[in-house]
Amino acid sequence: MRVEQEIDKIKEDALKELSSANTMDGLQAVRMKYLGKKGDLTRVLRGMGSLSPEERPRLGQLANEVRLLLEDELDRRLAELGRQEQLRQLAGEALDVTLPGRPVQRGHRHPLSTVLREIERIFTGMGFEVVQGPEVEWDYYNFEALNIPKGHPARDMQDSFYITREMLLRTHTSPMQVRTMEQAVPRLPVRVIVPGKVYRRDDDATHSPMFHQVEGLLVDSRCTMGDLKGVLLAFARQMFGPDREIRLRPSFFPFTEPSAEVDVSCLNCGGEGCRVCSGTGWLEILGSGMVHPRVLANVGYDPETAVGFAFGMGVERVAMLKYGINDLRLFFDNDVRFLHQF
Ligand code: DAH
Repeated sequence: MRVEQEIDKIKEDALKELSSANTMDGLQAVRMKYLGKKGDLTRVLRGMGSLSPEERPRLGQLANEVRLLLEDELDRRLAELGRQEQLRQLAGEALDVTLPGRPVQRGHRHPLSTVLREIERIFTGMGFEVVQGPEVEWDYYNFEALNIPKGHPARDMQDSFYITREMLLRTHTSPMQVRTMEQAVPRLPVRVIVPGKVYRRDDDATHSPMFHQVEGLLVDSRCTMGDLKGVLLAFARQMFGPDREIRLRPSFFPFTEPSAEVDVSCLNCGGEGCRVCSGTGWLEILGSGMVHPRVLANVGYDPETAVGFAFGMGVERVAMLKYGINDLRLFFDNDVRFLHQF
């Protein structure tokens, strides 16, 4: 009998409070008090388990009926108050239909998205497929399989955000080289680009803790550094203009051998030497090289019969060069005065 009375009392009290509440907030408070997570009726419903098996069905049904009743009443009161509010507004407001409308500000694509699409368009035009990979990555894919073992100094260049000892926010898109080849082996050719976000513990005018890269990978039974240069020259000319030249400078990456950094002739002076290119006539745009035999072997290709090239570029950097932007943080400030210029 006790529980039954309790349910009755809840019903009476709640109905009374629902009819006297005359604001939306007030109604929500009543809802919380009786039907919320810690509400009175919720507590009773949760307590059903402790009743005897004879009582449980009857009281359970009763409590549920009260719950439905209160929910219906609550909806009815919400609708009622809503209508009253509307009528009050209409009565108090003179509507001047001759006022000019408020113009809708039209947005457009973010400059980084524009540049990314352009990069994708250029490479898909040369037969590359666009694939994407996880931003939270295993140490194995981000470093180990790319020939960067634990303790390798190259890990220091990419100070990282670790999730666990074996898992981190990827510091580059290169791990997708490994994932893609694992999926493809032993098929050839592999021809992909991988756009995506990468993360490093860097933050200044030319570095952001989150930025974008596009990785490129081509593996086939025959391919040379000349092919790499040809592909990148075609890219540079479509992206930066038909008069561009590129040059390859010897460099080092653990996952390519040989490795090269690629420069494009200065967009500002055309190679004469100016302030933008610090007098050199060249601007660095990406890292590249021939896929290291050990990386090929790691994923199951035979380095005697499969050969490939890879490259990785920063999307922000490409956009900064293309548009003459000198502070990378502008991309992420979301100031429309900046964004509207592109
Ligand atoms: N992953 C390198 C970085 O983030 C860039 C890179 C260099 C990618 C050479 C490549 C490559 O694919 O071949 O610094």
